[in-house]
Amino acid sequence: MGNLFEKELEKKTIFKDRNAISQHYFPKELPFREKQIQEMTKILTPSLQGKKPDNLFLYGKVGTGKTTVTFHVIKELEEFVKKNQAKVTTNYVNCRNHNSKYKVLIKAIKKFFPEENFIGYSAGFIQEKFIDYCNKENHIILVLDEIDKVKDLDELVYSLSRSNDEIQNGSISIIGISNNLMFKERLDPRTKSSLCEKEMVFPPYNAEELRAILKARVELAFIPGSVSDSAVNLAAAIAAQESGDARTAVMLLMRAGEIAENTNARKVSDVEVNKAKKKVEEDIIFNMVSTLPEQQQLVLKAIALLSMSTKGIKKITGQEEIGVLYSGEIYDKYKQLASGIKESVVSSRWYRQYITELEMYGLILTSASGPGIKGQTKLIKLGFDAEKINSIIDSQLGK
Ligand SMILES: Nc1ncnc2c1ncn2[C@@H]1O[C@H](COP(=O)(O)OP(=O)(O)OP(=O)(O)O)[C@@H](O)[C@H]1O
Ligand SMILES: [Mg+2]
Repeated sequence: MGNLFEKELEKKTIFKDRNAISQHYFPKELPFREKQIQEMTKILTPSLQGKKPDNLFLYGKVGTGKTTVTFHVIKELEEFVKKNQAKVTTNYVNCRNHNSKYKVLIKAIKKFFPEENFIGYSAGFIQEKFIDYCNKENHIILVLDEIDKVKDLDELVYSLSRSNDEIQNGSISIIGISNNLMFKERLDPRTKSSLCEKEMVFPPYNAEELRAILKARVELAFIPGSVSDSAVNLAAAIAAQESGDARTAVMLLMRAGEIAENTNARKVSDVEVNKAKKKVEEDIIFNMVSTLPEQQQLVLKAIALLSMSTKGIKKITGQEEIGVLYSGEIYDKYKQLASGIKESVVSSRWYRQYITELEMYGLILTSASGPGIKGQTKLIKLGFDAEKINSIIDSQLGK
């Protein structure tokens, strides 16, 4: 019989270091991002000369290396600061978990005064603490990752830039990061110009680049010879086709490796990558849907519910299209859902903005109706299984 754990540990593994193929691993080498790394280094250097670096806004689609590159440069900066006793402090906040001005300030101040507890204090008080800290000749680089998740971002950026006016001997600079290419349009023009003093774009990776990134990761993560070249190429091709997203590429190979292990295959081949595709797609959709703002989740829920019940739209030609919805009926359904859970209802202008963003994320497809059907209106179709989307949203709204 043998002990259960003995047997488990004796199983042959194809991983050398499973961590190296996880999406949370930070590789030392970041090919195809040399330009961005260099530019960011240049933008932050004034902090080491006692000057305030410009605020910087980074944007690009999911999995294009924004977080990884920023961590890399910040780590180098911290190393330099330590060695040279420079007065620069970096601070990373993921706004997905800290999604309001107050929560960001509370999280950020903790690094400067680790012994103190600020919960319950006013935002004004915390801001004063920031100013005190900076006035001791400190330059703060505040990284706000997934900055689009901050509900009252205009107020946050305004407060931080007003603090800067009051600081005599130091400064606060913001590095804002977002994969929402449209969210800037929501901002007050003053916030926009303050946040985007400098901007950097992270383009999607093409299949060739993804292949090179994957090859390097495979070498770190797998035992030599346990992943076929063709599997690497396939994972790169799938990720390039979907979005040029390195996270998808890495996750595909990790899942494929797990599938190979569980089925006692000695090598990861195309079969495992194809099997992994569905699972990874689900993980990614889950992640995307569960981090949308609540109001946007309600809009998506309205689309999912209507898709499940709709009979199809009759086109002028007499053909029926299943699952195609009118923008107006979705807005009505959304209003009903929002009032049902005692949420405020967003205006139709905001609703249209949400629809545009859902399309950008690839969660829905839209087209103009053309003349004939209810005048000119937008037609909308859900990009994924309605029941799945609906159940993800329910699990989130219930929290
Ligand atoms: N140039 C690169 N070389 C090696 N690995 C990379 C590179 N770019 C991205 N990756 C890997 O891809 C994954 C996603 O990268 P990262 O988290 O930085 O993306 P992101 O742009 O911040 O995405 P999101 O907008 O979803 O937050 C990580 O596992 C990272 O290690
Ligand atoms: Mg990121």
